[in-house]
This record gives sequence, structure tokens and C-alpha cells, in this order.
Amino acid sequence: MKRRTFLKSMAATAAASACTPTALLALTGCSETTETAPVADGGYNFDEIIDRTGTYSIKYGRLEKSGEIGKKIPMTIADMDFRTAPYVHEALQTRLDRDVMGYTSTPEEYYESIIKWWKMRHGWEIPREWVNFCPGVITTLCFVIECFSAPGDKVVVQTPVYDPFMNYTKRLGREVVYNPLKKENGKYQMDLEHLESVLDEKTKILILCNPQNPGGRMWDLEELKTLAHICKEHGVLVLADEIHCDLSLYGKKHIPFLTVSPEAEQNGIILTGPTKTFNVAGLHAAQCFIANKEIREKLIGYLSAHKLMEPSITCIELTMAAYNHDDKWVNDVTAYIAKNVDYACDFFEKEVPQIKCIKPEASFLLYLDCSELNLPDDELKSLFQDKAGVMVSGGPGYGPGSEGCIRLNIGCPLSVLKQALERIKNAVV
Ligand SMILES: Cc1ncc(COP(=O)(O)O)c(C=O)c1O
Repeated sequence: MKRRTFLKSMAATAAASACTPTALLALTGCSETTETAPVADGGYNFDEIIDRTGTYSIKYGRLEKSGEIGKKIPMTIADMDFRTAPYVHEALQTRLDRDVMGYTSTPEEYYESIIKWWKMRHGWEIPREWVNFCPGVITTLCFVIECFSAPGDKVVVQTPVYDPFMNYTKRLGREVVYNPLKKENGKYQMDLEHLESVLDEKTKILILCNPQNPGGRMWDLEELKTLAHICKEHGVLVLADEIHCDLSLYGKKHIPFLTVSPEAEQNGIILTGPTKTFNVAGLHAAQCFIANKEIREKLIGYLSAHKLMEPSITCIELTMAAYNHDDKWVNDVTAYIAKNVDYACDFFEKEVPQIKCIKPEASFLLYLDCSELNLPDDELKSLFQDKAGVMVSGGPGYGPGSEGCIRLNIGCPLSVLKQALERIKNAVV
């Protein structure tokens, strides 16, 4: 698209749908919610439009504040628009119905549920002593940085990547070192030669995103092994963020970092949890796996010293409910997401070929290479948000290699996704 044409068309903002308080109902033309889960075939109903207005949701709240709710579709921050699994909801509800909250201890069953889940879902039996609660993935990432590096030290990230990796590293006074991913045949690969060239004695930590956000790559065994070897050789601790790992698509298998080699096992920390998987983000339910006793004691000692090793009762209840159950709900939600991915990629290929879909192997975030539109990043974002009326993430904030790219959260009913895609097409074509 020519720059002048784009600027001219900006005046005509998104064709707004009739604005009702129930934003997404209005957008999709539905008048009421459909049946709640589960549906007749024993599956779950991810087509249901759920009204999230008035719930302090960040992505809906922004539109409520700006008066654009019902006019724009929020496809930004990474939570899904689906109900959590009914058994997770029920466990929380049952606990709330007991009236008194009070201080709670962490039962052994909590740890057992985590070990049980990982064995079932990922075929990995984690020794009990490696497993600990932690107060959120990004919160703990900050503590790992504080524990294992000093101000002025360097932390490596592989971009494009989730922007808090860079933002919090900088806020903690550490230097961010970039090892941009390479794109080969539309698929991201790690640049392991370049990685070796950027490590020096000041480099203390590498943050690995597995699966990657954005881009959705699930890293292969050989890539992870080589990465583990390089980091071990250079005395660089690997912090593996595996929060999206349960949401693998198309049967792709997640490889937990600590399992790839003895070097990885003794030089890594995994941070993960049930919050993305079961759509309960914000409830601070996370866990860390650390095999190396010295590393584990240092981090857990640090967190304990700040009184951060006490999960809330909601964390305990939801974790046990989610992980003690079979994984049918997760299989169903990932099958639904995979259909959304296929629909969107097919749509872009046929209707907006200037935008290239980077097909994810995991999770509900679709990364779009829009470089053929030849727009500066602010105008690209404006094309989606102001002209199409689809709120998105991305742009240069995800680091080197993210220029000209947009991230769409497609963890939503297909009817909403279809509406968003039509809007994007009308804005671009
Ligand atoms: C890769 C990644 N890590 C961590 C988080 C957030 O985790 P938490 O809410 O536990 O801090 C997100 C949320 O989008 C994410 O995408």
C-alpha cells in the first residue's frame, strides 16, 4: 500500500458496528450467548461469546475507557476469550463457597499434581525436590535476574520475543544483548553461531522462550542441546520460560529444557504454570523446576527471604484441579486454536497475500509478517488499530527482527476472528 493512500484512508476509521454494552456480541451480530460448555458431543463450546466488559480485563478495559468498546476488537494481551475448564472453575467456586479464606499452607498434593500433569502431558517425571511454587513467571524472571547477575551484567534474548524479557532486564539495570532469530522458509531458527560471538564474561543469563512468543516455535532437541552446550561453556545460566508449552498444536511435542542434556539439567531453570493453558492468567499460579541444588537453594532462599513462597489459596486450588484432571479440555482448546490458525493463514494467503502468516507450533498468538506493506511501524499499527479497528500487539517492541510485524491474539471464538480478518482485509486492500 502506498503511504499517501494509507494516510488518506486513515480519515475513514473502522466501520463501526452497532455499539451495545456487550461488545463482542455486537461485533459478531449475535444477540445472546450460546450454550455454555460442555456441548452435546461431550466436547466444550469455544464458540461461545463471553461478555468480558466490566471485569477490569486489561484488553477490554482499555476500549471501555476510550469509549471504543463494541467498535474495536481487542486482540492484544495474551489471555483467551474462552471460559476456563469447568472443573477448574468448579474447584475455585467450591473453595469460595466455604466463606472463610484465612492463611493457608501448601499441601503435598499440590506438588504431586504438578508432577502428575507433566508426566501425563509431556512424558517427563520430575523429581519432587526440583519442583517449587513461584509467584508468577515474569515476577520470578526478575528475581532470577537479581539473584544470578549484578547491575551492568548482560542478559541475552533471542528476538523477536515477548517484550517484558527486555523491559524488566533493563529496568533492573542489566544490559540486554540480542541474538536475533533467523527466518528460514518462513520458520524461525536460532542463530547459534551468532550466539557464541556475543557472549563474554559479563554475560550471565540467557532467557529462552520455549515455545517462543511471538512466532510460536517449539524448539527442536538439537537446537536446545547446542544452546545448552554453548551456555554451559560460557558460564551463562539458561532461564527457560515454558509457560506456553501445554498449548502445542498439530501434535508437536514440547521438549522441556532440563531434559535435553546433563549440561542443560545442571545449568537451567524452567518457569511455567497452568495460567496460559487454562486461561486463568493473572492469578499468579506458577512453578519452577530446578535440578541444580546450588541454583535452586539460591533462588528459593531469595524468594523465601522476600516472603514470596506462599501460594494463594486460589493458586493451590486451581493448580490441583487443573493438573489432577485428564487433558481432554486442553486437547480440545488446542484443536480449536489450530483451526483458528488454519483459517487465518488460509485467509491471509487468499485474501491479503501481502501479509504472511508465521504459522505457530504452539499457543494462540499469530505473528504476521507485514513487511510487504512497506509501512513504518507506527503506521502499520495504526492501519490495524485505527483503520481496521483491530487492537494488536507487536511492532519494534519485540526487539530486532520484529520490525514490520504484528501479533494477533486468536484465542477467541472463530466468529470474532472472522470479523477481525474481514476488517484487516478491508483496511489493507
Ligand atoms: C512468554 C510469556 N511468559 C510469561 C508470561 C506471563 O506470565 P506471568 O503472568 O506468570 O507473569 C507471558 C504472558 O503473556 C508470556 O507470553
